[in-house]
Amino acid sequence: MKQKFYITTPIYYVNASPHIGHSYTTIAADTMARFMRGALKKENVLFLTGTDEHGQKIQKAADEAGLSAQEFVDKVVVQFKGLWEKLNISYDDFIRTTQQRHIATVQRALQLLYDKKEIYSAKYEGWYCTPCEIFWTQTQLSDSLCPDCKRPLEKIREVNYFFKISAYQSWLIDYIKNNPRFIQPASRQEEVLSFLHINTLSDLCISRPTQRLSWGIPVPFSKEHVTYVWFDALINYISAVGGFDAKGDYVSGWWGDDTQIVHMIGKDILRQHAVYWPIILKALGIRMPDTICAHGWWLIDAAKMSKSVGNVVNPLEMVDKYGIDVYRYFLLKDVPFGLDGNFSEEAIVRRFNSDLANDLGNLLYRTLTMVEKYYQGAVPSPRNEIYDERITRIVACLAGLHRQIEDALTATTFNFSLALEKIWEPVSMANKYVEDAKPWNLAKEGKKEELEAFIRILVDVIRQVGHSLSPFMPQTASQIEAQIGKNKINKGQPLFPRIENTR
Ligand code: MSP
Repeated sequence: MKQKFYITTPIYYVNASPHIGHSYTTIAADTMARFMRGALKKENVLFLTGTDEHGQKIQKAADEAGLSAQEFVDKVVVQFKGLWEKLNISYDDFIRTTQQRHIATVQRALQLLYDKKEIYSAKYEGWYCTPCEIFWTQTQLSDSLCPDCKRPLEKIREVNYFFKISAYQSWLIDYIKNNPRFIQPASRQEEVLSFLHINTLSDLCISRPTQRLSWGIPVPFSKEHVTYVWFDALINYISAVGGFDAKGDYVSGWWGDDTQIVHMIGKDILRQHAVYWPIILKALGIRMPDTICAHGWWLIDAAKMSKSVGNVVNPLEMVDKYGIDVYRYFLLKDVPFGLDGNFSEEAIVRRFNSDLANDLGNLLYRTLTMVEKYYQGAVPSPRNEIYDERITRIVACLAGLHRQIEDALTATTFNFSLALEKIWEPVSMANKYVEDAKPWNLAKEGKKEELEAFIRILVDVIRQVGHSLSPFMPQTASQIEAQIGKNKINKGQPLFPRIENTR
């Protein structure tokens, strides 16, 4: 494990309110950040999120709202920050691409690349999809519609600036092959490699004429152009944590070899992160991030959630209905990270009733009840001289738990659902133990020491599980800690009372 850890989310477009898809990436990154703050020194972890505020999409949304672009982004950014607060997102820094620190770095990066002759101007003639902000060549088209969004394309003819990414294609292929941890999961790495084998990269158009779009970062070497929103956006990962010195070297406390750098994204933006971004960094002489981790999509009835399809689920509604931690738990547990998942309230309720009400909530409640009943709320001392075989197994499971979670999260796989499965193992063992060994019989039979050993191990399970859960379910972890104090318990209401009806 490196000494420092820097994790980022995509910077989200502020053309619309956040939905559960956005919240998923952010919750995943938050969980990793919280876990790493426990594994490393707290100050050696940096968690960055933010908003992508330039470009056509935003300009259009602002026009529709009858506001200036700046007024509009200032309004929507408040919604994102409000949601992150509500979801308990512990970000350390929030970057907005309209901030001066970002604009300055983007302009410097452009100038450096221009001076190195990595950027040149050329006349462009071809097809353009305005909503996607993507150029298409004739050979990529089967009709006059955008291959991505199926909306009509516009024929354009204009002078633009191009970044010579084509020159880096073979370098990139080798880099990806030699660094198997670079793109995660492995299926995504294969996807990128096969894309690079099948296609020849065209140089990337990194400008837009101000005539067509003025809401962007001015290109430093042309008054007539603003920066293409993706070039602008990717730079956020470095503009938030450093800048270029007079010689043009990038300087940052969070981009050295002592830092593990992870970009967490959805699979929809893999190409930009796994192709454009490494090439931008390489051309600027900056080291690569360690990992680009692309997760799958949350679908509603098998369709990707998106504003244009009109099937978005509002995370605030879900949180109000089920609670923050239930929502966090559901997203992290229900789908192995990397795969697509189907979102439904029925699925939340099912998970809630089985894992949270029946397993965890039940164990906590029955343990507290017994500590109250048999020991007037005082936690009994450990009695390891009389451990039976079942207790011994639970103790071994607890002893290995942290390692198992660490492996699931950090051994490149970001496997949140596996980590949670591991946390549930001692919970299930303890519940089964209660059902099989029936502590109330031990009490009736006057087996005082056995009962103490028994109840104490249940308390130990809950304490450790509560602690292990804190990156995933921070509020639940604090509630468990509050209920099961150091020596004396403080029994409250059941944490997860069963939900009988969905609506
Ligand atoms: N602004 C760009 C990102 C620039 S990063 C340098 C962008 N923004 S976005 O608002 O469209 O957010 C895209 C991200 O939101 C996805 O990569 C993913 O992290 C998340 N999701 C959006 N919809 C999603 C689902 N339906 N399911 C899961 N996550 C999805 O692209």
